[in-house]
Amino acid sequence: MEALFLKQFQALIGLCSRPPYSYMSLDSALPDSTPSLISPALPELPGIPTQTHLKLPLKLGILASGTGSNFEAIVNTIATQQLHAQIQVLVYNNPDAKVVAKARKRDIPAILLDHRCFASREELDAQIAKVLHQFQVDLVVMAGWMRRVTQVLIDAFPDRILNIHPSLLPSFPGIRAVEQALNAGVKISGCTVHVVRLEVDSGPIVMQAAVPVLPDDTPQTLAARIQVQEHRIFPQSIALYAIVKNSISE
Ligand code: GRF
Repeated sequence: MEALFLKQFQALIGLCSRPPYSYMSLDSALPDSTPSLISPALPELPGIPTQTHLKLPLKLGILASGTGSNFEAIVNTIATQQLHAQIQVLVYNNPDAKVVAKARKRDIPAILLDHRCFASREELDAQIAKVLHQFQVDLVVMAGWMRRVTQVLIDAFPDRILNIHPSLLPSFPGIRAVEQALNAGVKISGCTVHVVRLEVDSGPIVMQAAVPVLPDDTPQTLAARIQVQEHRIFPQSIALYAIVKNSISE
């Protein structure tokens, strides 16, 4: 079942990354034939059914440590019925995380699992897995989760954990990805949604979107440009997962 799932998910991902669908122009001054580096919206993809045919909402468990702008983007995509999903629970590890207020405002259960209260990464992950199972989560979404995962969590949700990273992986994995890209002098950067594997920011790539790096960019201006794209491709990637899961369970 798991193997079949990953195969079908990757087939659908392949459909999305085949030109001309994944690439239209970054700059409207470029000729029409120039491929874009920004992923299209789901309705623009041929052969991808809309979310409305899905019977059951996909049950999401979100892990977040910070501001929660990706959390909010997912919430909004659900609210506007572009994503047939339901956020079962938010798990956060930092008591001051701003994401908590965003969850509370929408009556989404928010559970603090402070990493400082656990003797090891494995013990934290075991508790996270327990909570996610209690809330009957189908898919785990790391939306700014600033902890390294262990095999404990990966085994609890095999091929069912997605992460978003602010670079075009495999370039610039790890912390301060935006600064890494600026320091390297790249002219194009972006973001990546990928399936989580043990090695940090590795794993099969689901979707990417690119943005230009401008000469006067600071880490803040480039990060803001990248986040606009994160807020598009993360919900889209979850929507693709929902479609594949639905087609397998039919
Ligand atoms: C995002 O930039 C994401 O790429 C990285 O953490 C950040 C989280 O931002 N993994 P937010 O909390 O969703 O605003």
